Order: sequence, then structure tokens, then C-alpha cells
Amino acid sequence: MDKITLPAFAKINLFLEITGKRPDGYHDIDTVMQTVSLHDDVTVSLSGGKGIEIVCPGVDVPDEKNLAWRAAKAYLDRYGISDGISIRIEKRIPEKAGLAGGSADAAAVLRAMNAIFGAADAASLAETALTLGSDVPFCVYGGCARAAGRGEILYPLSALPDCFIVVAKGADPSPTPEAYARADTDGFSPRANNLFPLLGASDIFAICRQMFNRFEYTAVYDASIKPVMMGHGALAALLSGSGSAVFGIFGSEENARSAHSELSERGMFSAVCRPEGAAL
Ligand code: C5P
Repeated sequence: MDKITLPAFAKINLFLEITGKRPDGYHDIDTVMQTVSLHDDVTVSLSGGKGIEIVCPGVDVPDEKNLAWRAAKAYLDRYGISDGISIRIEKRIPEKAGLAGGSADAAAVLRAMNAIFGAADAASLAETALTLGSDVPFCVYGGCARAAGRGEILYPLSALPDCFIVVAKGADPSPTPEAYARADTDGFSPRANNLFPLLGASDIFAICRQMFNRFEYTAVYDASIKPVMMGHGALAALLSGSGSAVFGIFGSEENARSAHSELSERGMFSAVCRPEGAAL
């Protein structure tokens, strides 16, 4: 195989608590992540030349700073491969949104590289993924998982019961480092994760009642999104990751589409999607 296109799925966090600050500058977290059908398309091919070329319409980042470029470089370096690589990314996932858009692209590049070269087992692919970012190991596997540590210690869970998910984002970007820097974790008791035991049963209402995100207290995001979603019948609405995207869980497609229409009419990014199963 010398060319492959893979979907790079966005993720939402159904639960996210910051459990402490670490000596290495990161934070320990307890989170439940779920991939959703909103996705970028990542094509990786052998270029026949040297080095790594990347085309990513609409993204204005120097190649070496693009996480997808760095994923290809990390894979080539780790396995001593000298072939030239071309990457093309069609983006749909908004950036700095807490949806792991950049991480998903990097994970898709790693999986695509492995489909072409076959040099890594799943464990070493996840190790390479962690050198790129805390969310990248989860994005390699996808589906639903509880994550601890920086986000890389993964416990696979059954996917969220089928439902409709509206993901929306206003104009404010929420860069992850700044959101963590604002999160004050001194002297508070972390909230217990009562959500993860509910995955595997089909009670979406019980899951919605246990959704929580610590970043809602400090992140910058558009506060008008949640009331729109709830007004159109969302079972729950929550900030995703460190923001600034908000997602709503809907039992009915009609309600999800009417929320999506109103959010789009207000000039926001909005997409209707479904839970995705694991990729690996
Ligand atoms: O791992 P990633 O590169 O995505 O993280 C970006 C930044 O977010 C880190 O440099 C750190 O400041 C913060 N972060 C954190 N704790 C985590 C994940 C990220 O403090 N578990």
C-alpha cells in the first residue's frame, strides 16, 4: 500500500476532573472521552521524494509546528524510515475547541503510516503518540475510554448509547495551556467519577446526569450555546475538554437538527454527529 485516507474523529469529554498538579508541569486528570462522527480526512502517501510535505487548506501553521507533520517525523525517526511522505488534511474540526482536532489528525497520520510501513505494534504506536500530546494516544484508539495520568492511561469502555450530539463553538478560541494555567486545583476535593460505571448500560439519562467538566469554572467560552441546546430539548449540554466547544446530547434527531439550525443562524460553528466506535 502506498496511499491511505483515514477519518480523524473529534472527541468530546463526558467527564473531566483535574485531580492534581504534577511536578512535570502537567496536570493529572480523570476523564471519559468519546469519539464522535465529526471528522477531518487525512491522506498519507509515499511521495517518491524526500522529507515530509503537508497540505492542509485553511490552516496557517508552519509545517514543523503542525502536529500531523510532527507525527510523521516521529514515526519515520523512531523506525529509521527514509521514504518521502505526503500528507493532505481536509479540516472540519474547529481548532482550539477542546475537540482534539490537531491530536486526531496526528493520530490518523500515525495509523496511516503504520498501515503503509507496518513497523509499530499498538503499544509502541501509543508511546509515539504521547510524545506528540496528551490526547493523541486516545485518538489512536478512539471509541470510549476513561483516561488518567496526563490522559494517556486508558481504560476502554463501551461506547455512549446511540444518540445525536450537537457540537458548537463560538468565536473564542481556548488554548489548552492557558485553560490549565487558569485552573486552580489547590485545596479542593476532586469530584468522584460516577459516570464511567454507567457506560455499557443503555441509560442515556443517567449518563447525562453525571456529566461534568471542571473547566466550566475557568474556561472562556460562549455562554449562549447551552441555553440554545437545552431550549431545543437537549438532555444535557457540557463544555468539551478545555473549551471552547460545547456539546449537547439529544435523544431525537429532529431536536438536534433544530438546535444546529439556530446555532448556525447565530453564526457559530455547529455540527450534528453520533458516537463513534473504537478504531483499533
Ligand atoms: O499534552 P498537550 O501538548 O496537549 O498539552 C498542552 C498543554 O496543556 C501542556 O503544555 C500543559 O500546559 C497543559 N496540560 C496539562 N495537563 C494535561 C494536559 C495538558 O497541564 N493533562
